[in-house]
Amino acid sequence: MRTLIPFNDGWLYHPEPVDDTAPDSRFEPVTLPHANVVLPHHNFDNAEYQFISTYRRRFTPPELEPGQRLFVDFEGAMIASTVALNGVRLGEYRGGFTPFSFDLTDQLVPGENLLTVHLDSRERTDIPPYGFVVDYLTFGGIYREVALRVVDACHIEDVFVQTRDVLTGQPRVAADTTLRNLTNAPRALTLRAELLDAQGQRLADATEAIALAPGEALYTLEMQASGVRRWTLDDPALYTLRVTLAERGALTDCVDTRFGFREARFEPDGFYLNGERLPLIGLNRHQTYPYIGAAAPARLQRRDAEIVKWELGCNLVRTSHYPQSRHFLDRCDEIGLLVFEEIPGWQHIGDDDWKQLSLDYLRAMIVRDRSRPAIILWGVRVNESPDDEAFYTATNALARRLDPTRQTGGVRYFQDSQFLEDVFTYNDFSNTVVEPKHTPHMVTEFNGHMFPTKNWDQEERAVEHALRHARIQDRQIGMPDVVGAIGWCAFDYNTHQEFGSGDRVCYHGVMDIFRLPKYAAYFYGSQIDPARRVVLQAATVWSMGDRSGGGVNPLVVFSNCDAIEVFIGDERIGRFSPDRETFPHLPHAPYVIPMPQQHLTWGRTLPDLRLMGHLNGEAVAEQRIAADGLPRALALAADHDELIADGADMTRVAFRIVDRFGNRLPYTNQVVTLEVEGPADLIGENPFALAGGQAAVYLRARREPGEVRIRATTPRLPPAEVTIRLRGI
Ligand code: GAL
Repeated sequence: MRTLIPFNDGWLYHPEPVDDTAPDSRFEPVTLPHANVVLPHHNFDNAEYQFISTYRRRFTPPELEPGQRLFVDFEGAMIASTVALNGVRLGEYRGGFTPFSFDLTDQLVPGENLLTVHLDSRERTDIPPYGFVVDYLTFGGIYREVALRVVDACHIEDVFVQTRDVLTGQPRVAADTTLRNLTNAPRALTLRAELLDAQGQRLADATEAIALAPGEALYTLEMQASGVRRWTLDDPALYTLRVTLAERGALTDCVDTRFGFREARFEPDGFYLNGERLPLIGLNRHQTYPYIGAAAPARLQRRDAEIVKWELGCNLVRTSHYPQSRHFLDRCDEIGLLVFEEIPGWQHIGDDDWKQLSLDYLRAMIVRDRSRPAIILWGVRVNESPDDEAFYTATNALARRLDPTRQTGGVRYFQDSQFLEDVFTYNDFSNTVVEPKHTPHMVTEFNGHMFPTKNWDQEERAVEHALRHARIQDRQIGMPDVVGAIGWCAFDYNTHQEFGSGDRVCYHGVMDIFRLPKYAAYFYGSQIDPARRVVLQAATVWSMGDRSGGGVNPLVVFSNCDAIEVFIGDERIGRFSPDRETFPHLPHAPYVIPMPQQHLTWGRTLPDLRLMGHLNGEAVAEQRIAADGLPRALALAADHDELIADGADMTRVAFRIVDRFGNRLPYTNQVVTLEVEGPADLIGENPFALAGGQAAVYLRARREPGEVRIRATTPRLPPAEVTIRLRGI
């Protein structure tokens, strides 16, 4: 019977290549996910993460029954892993974004075994995405989880769940099951599939007696699935398909695959989810974080999906420019956030070996993720690469063969590019939306380097940054031949010196590198249905002299309210409607409100701003901004109040300096000092010199349960505190 054993703790790490004779005392104990270096968030000093390191794990293997095999499964390590057991090399896996496994069985010894990984984290030109400088960093480390897997000699290798006829009253579900027989003789087995609802209730099943010959074989079990709920963005109903294998009445294997009943199609005139046209509004996401690189545990990965859907109001995310963590994708499935996932790369295609690796990654990505309801499109071109007819004919054919249920896209930046995919996915940096030459046409990037904006930039720029996103999203929604647009990008990110603002950061995010909002984030957030969350956010520091020439005219407000009342001090300025003239297509047009001149006169003290948001005639939200600009509080907040004490779990702890109404003061640059009491570690700069009035660090649980108190102090303001519980495993 299959057993999965998490294999994330008890690792030893050394930042150099050393052999098995090196004593353990030269190593540091680590828990996975692990970053080979902890960086300052700016990476001003160009901290080095490109080197070969050694990971080792001593273990006593589980007892194996005759014929059973023991595999080690790596979910992702950057970027080439040479794996050995007890000094015997098992092989090298080249690739940083896709899972890989080694069969340990034949090299196991009784008692203690030693698994070694020599991890090459350099940008090797033989491995995609490298060969040319890329605009992001591929931080090193075994940065995703590892597990041991015990299986019988005959086992389930893969399950691909396909749903059919979802829009009829008679939906069906099929399990394409790949079985493997590692013995030399055929085996008589019973293959069974069961459809389970979220409570584990069985809704349908199918069984087949099979004779499994040595090697691999594919079987399809299909069944009716009456009465199931569809997977939609508002109600992302998930089901499980349980596939089991039995021999002479005894269960020998079991694999559960989560999926949803939905139909997703790109047509020339739009994207259709379950037969309904859905304008796609999205953002690109890089998987990197400040300090920890890409080694973010499940909780942070899941949180990113929540931020993109619930704080940024998007219905689509692109995993630029590689397959991302399964935890991120799990959360997309659970909350109803659509995903465009693509193969690794950036503007460059290498030699035949490099292309073969790209095909291998494409296969690994699709096989890993093809049962997920959230994924609606496969990116089968290297982002912004030149045409290559033979290569891209092969990637398209492979994707269509591995997954006939989804269409392909492939991101390019020239409109005359050869169109071999199903969807023309195009990076449009024209500052508008070009007329499509092919359909379906989806904008996969815009803005980005055309208008980098820091969270401490002057108001004028921060507002214009937000409005550029608003204008493009508005225009694309109104174009009948455009199916959607994915802005560049969700979060600021670390990069090479060839890009970014000289501090090795691309300030292209609508949020900063800590996932804290700039004004552009409020624009996206305001597109949310107000029934879910009311958004009312003025894009101003409310000061006479910040904009060129002075004043705050016009006042831009991002809101999903249907009317806004504006007060300056006690004076009611008026009741305003969204600017539908400039933004006729957005679900919730920004407000662009003319301000009366009498309050905006040099030398006159500006009173506070007060906004009231109304929905269907009722006041539902209020925002006030203090005109005095005085720091009144240090606000401290953790995203979660409980962590698991497993040595890896983390949450973000964010701090802001705010006015007396709780608005961030973007030009405060005080030092914030953090103290931690309890069994957890802070990952991040401490003390932190604020830029933009906000920042964050991460708190990582140690292995003992308890309570952690974080106290933040800054000159001239009262200290702030949060408490987090650590729950035992
Ligand atoms: C694109 C590229 C992205 C990013 C972006 C910046 O050309 O695909 O990775 O570099 O530009 O705007």
